[in-house]
Amino acid sequence: MPATLIVGTQWGDEGKAKIIDYLSEQTEIVVRYQGGANAGHTVKVGAEKYIFHLIPSGILYPNTICILGGGMVIDPEALFKELGELAARGIPTKGRIRVADNAHLLLPYHREVDILREERAGGNKIGTTKRGIGVCYSDKVNRWGIRVGDLFSEAFFEKRLPALVAQKNLTLTALYQAQPVDLQELKNYLLSLRDKMREFVVNASYYLNLELASGKKVLLEGAQGTMLDLDFGTYPYVTSSNPTTGGALTGSGISFQYLGDVIGITKAYTTRVGEGPFPTEAFGDEGEKLRQIGQEFGSTTGRPRRCGWFDSEVIRHAARVNGLTCLALTKLDILDSFDTIKIGVGYELDGKRISHFPAYDVEKIKVIYEELPGWKEPISNCRTLNELPKNAKKYIQALEKFTGVPIRWVGVGPGRENTIKIK
Ligand code: GDP
Ligand code: IMO
Ligand code: MG
Repeated sequence: MPATLIVGTQWGDEGKAKIIDYLSEQTEIVVRYQGGANAGHTVKVGAEKYIFHLIPSGILYPNTICILGGGMVIDPEALFKELGELAARGIPTKGRIRVADNAHLLLPYHREVDILREERAGGNKIGTTKRGIGVCYSDKVNRWGIRVGDLFSEAFFEKRLPALVAQKNLTLTALYQAQPVDLQELKNYLLSLRDKMREFVVNASYYLNLELASGKKVLLEGAQGTMLDLDFGTYPYVTSSNPTTGGALTGSGISFQYLGDVIGITKAYTTRVGEGPFPTEAFGDEGEKLRQIGQEFGSTTGRPRRCGWFDSEVIRHAARVNGLTCLALTKLDILDSFDTIKIGVGYELDGKRISHFPAYDVEKIKVIYEELPGWKEPISNCRTLNELPKNAKKYIQALEKFTGVPIRWVGVGPGRENTIKIK
């Protein structure tokens, strides 16, 4: 099948970008299908480190075409900043970036309200990335969002924009005591954007289905992860889009019939940024050791990530929701120095074993752990399964047993050369 989907199975930052970069060599088109500049996708090539927020992580290969799909919310300021940074580093992007005409524009007032909302949320604070994501998606659902394609419609500027601004200003002023949007100023800004965006705009669904029909290889790049999914994550501590397989289809517009492998990216332990329940969270020295060795600090906001053990129930949930065909296990090397390694194998709620990730009362879960011996030697130079220490292989086998999903790749370091194909 020509389309392969890469999806995060945990709370984001699983190492999706490294695997996308690794697979991009054999890919013609890479598509981001949801989220926006809340994503921070890191690729390390030799001494160079790139962090992508909006641009697909396949951009480093000179011949890939990179699409920002219709399910995304696109902050033009973040986009042009990222393009400028790539140009300064000698990465050619001309003619290689396309932006879906049905993607929504994320404007300065979205960012402003995200900050105001969080400040006033009290106990309902989410710990967002403050990139305006939830506010922009709310506008989309409220049907007063502005899409990339609207920039090219005279009727939009004449008829819809004035009414939309009036509606938006009601909420900005009454709910948030924020400055109202000035219609003329916004219009001028959008018109200037029209000229800058023209070269990128595409009907992504039409384009992608045509390319897929002609046999082109497409990689769908998820941002965030299954547990941050608006519908299947730990609501309300989630992002405002669907990183899962359903979101990949609606956010790219490709037919489900083109979808082949669905690769779940899974850290060898677990991390989460922001508020919300995290059953296998490790506190004290254990959590701090994972954070320091794993360098678990946000790629977008620099916030320390909460760290904990591998949670098989989370991965089984991700396997079901996404239809995972295999896993890529990342950051196994971070566990090199641990005497023993815990694996969450199941949950108890109110004294009873439960068989799935619950939609509520997640804070009350008691995790059942198994503990495996560590391997206590560095593995970053290993290049085949056979070179891995016996206990590392046993850990991989245990994760396959508890998740029920085959592990096809193992990450032993951040570089391009540090991904081992084991199946
Ligand atoms: P993403 O958002 O899922 O793309 O992940 P991030 O880029 O936010 O975070 C993953 C971090 O782990 C990055 O700093 C990567 O360079 C790094 N990384 C990815 N895979 C490995 C691995 O196998 N070993 C090590 N040590 N680091 C890795
Ligand atoms: P990548 O693609 C980890 C988290 C935020 C917050 C919640 C909602 O790099 O894996 P938002 O700004 O989206 O409204 O914040 O989601 N979050 C992420 N956590 N990785 C990400 O992206 C994230 N994007 C959002 O920390 O808890
Ligand atoms: Mg990230």
